[in-house]
Amino acid sequence: MDAKPIYILAIESSCDDTSAAVLCDKKRLSNVVATQKIHEEYGGVVPELASRAHQQNIVPVVHQALAQANIDKKQLSAIAFTRGPGLMGSLLVGTSFAKSLSLGLNIPLIEVNHMQAHILAHFIEEENSKIPSFPFLAMTISGGHTQIVLVEDYFKMQVLGKTLDDAVGEAFDKSAKILGFPYPGGPLIDKYAQFGNPEAFPFPKSKVGDLDFSFSGLKTSILYFIQKQVKENPNFIAENRDDICASIQFTIVNILMSKLKKAVKQTGIKRIAIGGGVAANSGIRKALEDAEKNLGWTTYIPKFEYCTDNAAMIGIVGYLKYKEELFSEQSVTAKARYLI
Ligand code: KG4
Ligand code: ZN
Repeated sequence: MDAKPIYILAIESSCDDTSAAVLCDKKRLSNVVATQKIHEEYGGVVPELASRAHQQNIVPVVHQALAQANIDKKQLSAIAFTRGPGLMGSLLVGTSFAKSLSLGLNIPLIEVNHMQAHILAHFIEEENSKIPSFPFLAMTISGGHTQIVLVEDYFKMQVLGKTLDDAVGEAFDKSAKILGFPYPGGPLIDKYAQFGNPEAFPFPKSKVGDLDFSFSGLKTSILYFIQKQVKENPNFIAENRDDICASIQFTIVNILMSKLKKAVKQTGIKRIAIGGGVAANSGIRKALEDAEKNLGWTTYIPKFEYCTDNAAMIGIVGYLKYKEELFSEQSVTAKARYLI
C-alpha cells in the first residue's frame, strides 16, 4: 500500500519576498510569491518597509497558496517556515505566523535554514528535472548571498567559501546603479552585455584567498573608472553601455568560475549545483555549459522559480525534515544570523 501523502505548507519571509507554497511529498502544488515593489525607488531593500509589507501580504499569500493547491488547511501535515538567516523584522512575520498556524491546527512546526533551502531546492520533483547525487558542490549566488558549499547529504553541509563583503547580486546591482540603471540592475547588465565586447574594459579581479569572495573592490574600481571617463566624455556611459556591461559581467563570471574550479580541484567533486537569483545570468549559464563540455562537470540549475527566494524551497526542506521527524518547539525564535 502507498504511504499517505504528506502535505507541507511552507512560508518564506526572510527578505523582500513574501511567499507561501504547498508541497505534496516532493512535488510543489503551489508556490505563490508576492514581490515587494516598494523598495525599487530606494535602490535597495528597506528593512522596516519589508516587514510591514510582509504583514500585509502574508494572509492573502497563504490563502492563495492553499487555493491554488486545492487543499484545505485541515489536510496539512506540517508547517515549515524560514527561521533565518535574513532580516529580523521580516523573519519575525513568517515565524510568528507559522507558529500560530501550527498551534491552531495542532500539527508539527518545522524550522528551515534559508541557505540550506536554496541548495535543497534541487530536490523538488519536476518533470524532466535533473537531481544531483551526493556529494556535490553548491554555489548559491543572489542579492543576499554568495557561498560555495560541500553537500554530503541533505543535512550534512559545509561552507567552503563565502563573500567577505558584498554578495554577487549586489555587485551587479551596485554596478548598475553607477551606470544609472534602476534597481535591481543585474538583469539589465545581463541584457546589454549580450551586445558588448567583454574585453573592452578590463576590471581587476579581487585577490581574496582560497574559496572566499570579495566584490567591494570591484565596485569601487568600476566607480572610479566611470567617474574618470565621464569627466572626459559626459556621454561615455551612453556611448559604451554594452561594452561596459559585457566587461562587468565577464569579470564577475570569471571570479565565480575561478572559485568553482578551485573548489572542484580541492574536493575532486565535479557535480555543481547553482541557485539564487544570479543563476539566471546568461554569462554564468554559458560558462557552466562550457565547463560541462570541456571539464567534464555535470551542472544543475533549477527552474528560475526555485532560484530566487520562494517558499517551495522551504517546503522541500520541510518535507525532508518531516520524514526524519525533525520538528521544532513552539518556543523557537527567528534567527537573523543562522549558519548552515
Ligand atoms: O535570489 P534573489 O531573487 O533575491 C535575493 O537576493 O535573495 O536574487 C536577486 C538578485 C539581484 O541582485 C538581481 O540583480 C540578480 O539576482 N539577478 C541577476 C540576474 N537576474 C537576477 N544578476 C545578473 N544577471 C541576471 N540575469
Ligand atoms: Zn535567498
